[in-house]
Amino acid sequence: MTTAPTIDVQISEDDIQGSLRSDVIRGLTATRKWLPSKWFYDARGSKLFDSITELPEYYPTRTERALLRCHAGDIADSVSETEELVELGSGSSEKTRLLLRALDNRGSLRGYLPQDISGSALREAMSLIAHEFPTLETHGVVSDFTSMLHALPQAGHRTVAMLGGTLGNLAPEQRAEFYRRVHDVLNPGEYLLLGVGLMTDPEIMVPAYDDTAGVTAEFNRNVLHVLNSRLGADFEPDCFDHVAVWDAENEWIEMRLEASANMTVTFADLGLVVHFAVGEQIRTEISAKFRLPAFHAELRVAGFPVQQSWTDPDDRFALVLGRRR
Ligand code: AVJ
Repeated sequence: MTTAPTIDVQISEDDIQGSLRSDVIRGLTATRKWLPSKWFYDARGSKLFDSITELPEYYPTRTERALLRCHAGDIADSVSETEELVELGSGSSEKTRLLLRALDNRGSLRGYLPQDISGSALREAMSLIAHEFPTLETHGVVSDFTSMLHALPQAGHRTVAMLGGTLGNLAPEQRAEFYRRVHDVLNPGEYLLLGVGLMTDPEIMVPAYDDTAGVTAEFNRNVLHVLNSRLGADFEPDCFDHVAVWDAENEWIEMRLEASANMTVTFADLGLVVHFAVGEQIRTEISAKFRLPAFHAELRVAGFPVQQSWTDPDDRFALVLGRRR
């Protein structure tokens, strides 16, 4: 018996609008301006991100795909009880299909629950999945992944995956909160599979976030387009320069947008006016890069002792499998 794939929209337009408003008010009235990176991903931003993954400088996607090509069978063996694969921030699900194939071959997999903030990306991904895996019960969830974790169905033995280095976009406190939530919803013995970028040479890492074609710059500026269309702001995105730096102390890449002139931006829908001095920056993303031993320790402390991890020959990316204690 097959069930048509379903999509559950757990976040309403009003929720999105409300959290964007409060994020903008908090972030752009702060002394050091910042915006959460999840606001990059409207339909245009998701497309730009997909283009980033094809850039010669952007090694993470390609490296993770190669890891999955090599080791999906091992991973599937390690999580062989898995009946439901839950994927947080699933995006195009392109690499996940490698894992789904391997799990599907083992025979215990029944369902796939992809979650993403972008409904358009999720719908496209799900139609490809439904085509390739006609008997898999696929339920998509459009939400913020924190709310998805409250309402995780108790359908069978679960593996929660967060691939692509998305974990690195969370600040350390948010990461700790994320582990607590996953720990709360999972039963002992269920799995957490994380794809994370590893710390490597800054001359490799920085260009991945500052490509010569300027795609990442356009992706970065997309957040300003989102504020213009959703909040009636009047940013001139082209008056902001893309900046990507390696923060050696925090061990993360930071993306920023730098004002190339003094500017005043009005948010018609918020009754808010924000001033930018020339050279002033907005932090738009952090992308943490991990050291494997410290990362294993972090997961152990969070209640997910690491069962196994897989890295590429250049140690630039890792797939790390923790098991809920
Ligand atoms: C969403 C985690 C895959 O941090 O590498 C790519 C987003 N930002 N280029 C990352 C991103 C700039 C990306 N991930």
